[in-house]
Amino acid sequence: MASHLRCEQILVRFGGVVACDKVSLDVEEGKIVGLIGPNGAGKTTLFNVLTRFQAHDAGHVYYRGELIDRKRPHEMVLMGMARTFQNINLFGEQSTLDNILIGAHRLTGSPIANMYSLPGSRRRERELARRAGEIAEMLRLSGQLDTAVKHLPYGFQKRVEIARALASEPRLILLDEPVAGCNDEETAELREVVKRINRELGVTVLMVEHDMSMVMNCCEHIYVVNFGANLAQGSPAEIRANPSVISAYLGQEVEA
Ligand SMILES: Nc1ncnc2c1ncn2[C@@H]1O[C@H](COP(=O)(O)OP(=O)(O)OP(=O)(O)O)[C@@H](O)[C@H]1O
Ligand SMILES: [Mg+2]
Repeated sequence: MASHLRCEQILVRFGGVVACDKVSLDVEEGKIVGLIGPNGAGKTTLFNVLTRFQAHDAGHVYYRGELIDRKRPHEMVLMGMARTFQNINLFGEQSTLDNILIGAHRLTGSPIANMYSLPGSRRRERELARRAGEIAEMLRLSGQLDTAVKHLPYGFQKRVEIARALASEPRLILLDEPVAGCNDEETAELREVVKRINRELGVTVLMVEHDMSMVMNCCEHIYVVNFGANLAQGSPAEIRANPSVISAYLGQEVEA
């Protein structure tokens, strides 16, 4: 299978802190891949490098084989990459629908045509609203389209973030702790959502997550990082049984 997103020997320093220490990974097209490791291991920093929100000091990033070291985040959106953030980052006063439509922004036409509401742009708006409705249905948000996001329960807000990312019609989505702070029911729901995005929309997924039920159940391949560096990679079963992963991160969890 082809490589969708790959990085080699990524180094990121924040003053004296080495957040990424020559870390490498390769996300195969069409897969759900996990990225796990202890707090402060550099997972979010690596996500920021991969999505071009963060410059790296050394190493290279490739999207479908193309070097993207110098790309800007909005260029990555145009190339088919979307992401969510570890901390919810929505427009709370705006409705679910408006938040989803913000994600579709890249698909809208000329700003001038939109300003004068030319017929082509009205058609496009209707099409975007229809598409946003489909995404909302997939994420079970249809009943909340007109609700201001700040009034939604936490688990719903996490789904709105994913819906907004999907509205840019990505081929690859990076999820930074999609179920952090969710209860068991919300986690189970999001687990199915992630699988459907992958299976039904054919979107490749790279996911950072501390919830092992989510990681072990969804991911076909898992990378483990520790102190900014690669510690292990393999199938869920291999990772669960890996002694260095157990001592660095999983601890007692695997015996549960
Ligand atoms: N902007 C920044 N400036 C300075 N240090 C930073 C910055 N961002 C991250 N760090 C440091 O880099 C290291 C890696 O942080 P990062 O947030 O990438 O870890 P993480 O694996 O995502 O952790 P968590 O599981 O808690 O989210 C930490 O020591 C953190 O304090
Ligand atoms: Mg993080």
